[in-house]
Amino acid sequence: MSRQIGASEGDVLVNYSKEPEAFHEFELLGWESAVDQYHDGWGNLTSQAVRPLLDALNLGTTSRLLDVASGPGYVAEEATARGCSVIGLDFSANMVKKARAVHPGLEFRIGDAQSLPFEDETFDAVSMNFGMLHLANPEVAMKEALRVLKREGCFAFTVWAPPEEALGFGAILRAVEKYGENVTVPHGPDFFFYSKPEECKIALTTVGYLAPKVMLIDLCWRLASANEFFPAFYGGTARTGGLLRRQPPEARRRIEEEVRQTVEEYRAKDGSIEIPMPAVLAWASKA
Ligand SMILES: C[S@@+](CC[C@H](N)C(=O)[O-])C[C@H]1O[C@@H](n2cnc3c(N)ncnc32)[C@H](O)[C@@H]1O
Repeated sequence: MSRQIGASEGDVLVNYSKEPEAFHEFELLGWESAVDQYHDGWGNLTSQAVRPLLDALNLGTTSRLLDVASGPGYVAEEATARGCSVIGLDFSANMVKKARAVHPGLEFRIGDAQSLPFEDETFDAVSMNFGMLHLANPEVAMKEALRVLKREGCFAFTVWAPPEEALGFGAILRAVEKYGENVTVPHGPDFFFYSKPEECKIALTTVGYLAPKVMLIDLCWRLASANEFFPAFYGGTARTGGLLRRQPPEARRRIEEEVRQTVEEYRAKDGSIEIPMPAVLAWASKA
């Protein structure tokens, strides 16, 4: 399988990694070791976006769906329940192993969002739930989704709202800014680039989609205690986790203490933590 992590000739890219191979490897290593903590820490949050994501795709009961960056398989599970035939695709072998274990009988394959291992015009719909933020070249992935869509097909993706609204990200980024040391991680695209609805529409249109639409969806991160928040980022994410794991121990300790205090502000009446984490849902059609 040829890899197309960077741009190909003729692409006019706006949001991309300046060192795509290094960023891709950094992300891959991160996800390979984040599987269980991701599923335990983030599953109840990212799976809340699945219904609106699938509603936007307007699937029929015989639709063929490709779910890219499928993780533990939340989208594949719901789409299968709606009668669709689904393939989940993720570049992390460990993530695919987990998805197969959680959903025996569903199909998950290993592959890169930026070089999809499928023929042109194979699927009625392509989805990507919180995958765009982890790609060295998101616009190449949008283009690949367009290529594998049938003529009437539709593509939909979600990303996090800006950190001032997705407050969990706000809390961790403020703490890193306050106590973090300058650590080096490979350059990646702007994490919050597609948090701006206008940029989603421009990117989708530039790549070749028609009639792009964007809406904000309200998600809420429920944690049993404030102590679960930092480990969810530290061990359960690739990019933010990588930034935290490279901190010297004292800086890491301060960041952890700071976010624990911030997160206490979101204690609900039943003692659990409820953090507002809205997301941006964007979708568009091929023809
Ligand atoms: C934040 S998780 C989202 C998982 C899942 N879609 C969900 O709804 O929770 C990001 C996923 O993208 C996958 N991923 C990151 N870069 C990828 C790439 N280039 N190609 C395919 N999958 C990728 C990771 O392995 C991880 O499973």
